[in-house]
Amino acid sequence: MALLLWLGSQLSTCWNNISTLGIFLTVFTLLLDFMMRRKKWSHYPPGPTSLPFIGTMLHINFRSPHLSLNQLHKKFGHVFHLQNCWTNLVVLNGYKTVKEALVHRSEDFADRPYFPMYEHIGYGSKSEGIVFARYGHMWKELRKFTLSTLRNFGMGKKSLEERVIEEAGFLCSAVSSEEGRPFDPRFLVNNAVCNVICTTIYGERFDYGDKTFKELLHSFENSLRDETGFLPQLLNVVPFLLRIPGVPQKVFQGQKKFMDYIDVFVHKHMENWNPAYTRDFTDAFLKEMEKGKVAEESGFNYKNLRMVTADLFMAGFETTSTTLRWAFLYMLLHPEIQSKVQAEIDKVIGRERSPTTEDRVNMPYTNAVIHEVQRYGDIIPLGVPHMAYRDVDFQGFFIPKGTTVITNLSSVLKDEAVWKKPNQFYPENFLDVNGQFVKQEAFMPFSAGRRICLGEQLARMELFIFFTALLQKFTFVLPENQPMPRQDAYFAITCAPYPYQLRAVPR
Ligand code: HEM
Ligand SMILES: *[C@@H]1O[C@H](CO)[C@@H](O)[C@H](O)[C@H]1NC(C)=O
Repeated sequence: MALLLWLGSQLSTCWNNISTLGIFLTVFTLLLDFMMRRKKWSHYPPGPTSLPFIGTMLHINFRSPHLSLNQLHKKFGHVFHLQNCWTNLVVLNGYKTVKEALVHRSEDFADRPYFPMYEHIGYGSKSEGIVFARYGHMWKELRKFTLSTLRNFGMGKKSLEERVIEEAGFLCSAVSSEEGRPFDPRFLVNNAVCNVICTTIYGERFDYGDKTFKELLHSFENSLRDETGFLPQLLNVVPFLLRIPGVPQKVFQGQKKFMDYIDVFVHKHMENWNPAYTRDFTDAFLKEMEKGKVAEESGFNYKNLRMVTADLFMAGFETTSTTLRWAFLYMLLHPEIQSKVQAEIDKVIGRERSPTTEDRVNMPYTNAVIHEVQRYGDIIPLGVPHMAYRDVDFQGFFIPKGTTVITNLSSVLKDEAVWKKPNQFYPENFLDVNGQFVKQEAFMPFSAGRRICLGEQLARMELFIFFTALLQKFTFVLPENQPMPRQDAYFAITCAPYPYQLRAVPR
């Protein structure tokens, strides 16, 4: 009996201890959480109330982040804050605000947050690539090298342009072999755009319909899907979850597979590399790596070769092909605009000669249409996250160093204070009364400032040449007896049109 009593009292003190410990731990964690979420600064931008642990994440629909938060902008104004778990974010809205940050205060906002979710594919402090590189020496050196290498390969000059023109020819033949039947233009357009970036970086192209290409594309699309949604974002802001064995591999399968393809390209180069002869971007990078320790410190190392070329591939491929797919969809939906473009092509280029970028200045209407495709298509609505490089006083608010800064490009491209018709596909947004092209400062699909898209020249060249080459040879029409294509976008890093079918009728 005594023994039982003793046991009972032991158990109850033990239980008491556990519950005391439990209460203590709960209070401690809540306190810690409170400290982590507390904003210690006066004049910090306003924002919604933040909840324990998750912050303001409930306000965001991670499947279509560009659509959520509309009310917040209205409620709190052009500069407001959010909180993903313990990460502070500030959102900038509207042409004036975004321009001030990106252009006038360019260095203050030139940094990038660190993305732990890419570590498992080789992203690290000495191998950050370019897109997600912290602002500093390595980013500067790599950006300079990349721009000048692409330029020597003809970015803005003849040789790369000739390659684009040649690829446009292959694309036209592939479209022609559909013989006016309904088809989804996605595969052919993807193939053409991929070939441009692939020849430039790795010196390889894929024939239309190639099996390896289809697999590569599939892994690429999966990798984009991997990065969309609540879970990946959570892993990014609570990186210790990534330390759980198997988690990154499981969540980011597509990414891993995509990197395997990149590795095949890179290995092939290393095997038959000849320093005397530079075939492509990868060769130029290998040559730089030979320069020893200083180069290594500037980011020219093997790990980073993988990351930089994968970055260029990722950044240069999906964006351009998505924009072209919007372009053809808008032509289907606005046949009268399509006819006007074709009339201008006939007048300036004719039916035979291939279009070149020199034709652009003589084709204000076509130029305006392409700009309007990029404005209205709005494919990267929230841009790429920036980070405050130092403590910043901005429009009366205090934004501390290290705050993630979201530049809402969509709010610039659709700013009601700037555009004649912000919420319509309306090429006249870029034309004056005489039909001349008008440059608009709020045209920021490539962002602005120090981090402005590095591939803008190449992208604009591709958009112009592919678009005019196809409309020179074909008229795009909706197939009969098919539902109207959807005009809203689906979000997977970029905002893309839903798959649709068209008929390309030879002219
Ligand atoms: C229509 C096509 C394209 C669009 C709309 C686009 C848009 C963008 C945007 C919005 C950014 C983020 C800028 C910022 O951080 O504020 C960006 C960055 C970047 N883009 Fe593009 N892009 C396109 C095509 C390309 C192409 C073809 C390439 C490759 C040659 C490329 C390479 C890059 C790189 C490397 C960055 C990172 C720049 C840095 O962080 O310093 N992009 N792009
Ligand atoms: C970005 O701008 C668009 C268009 O003005 C708006 O609908 C959206 O809610 C904004 N997003 C954020 C995060 O403020």
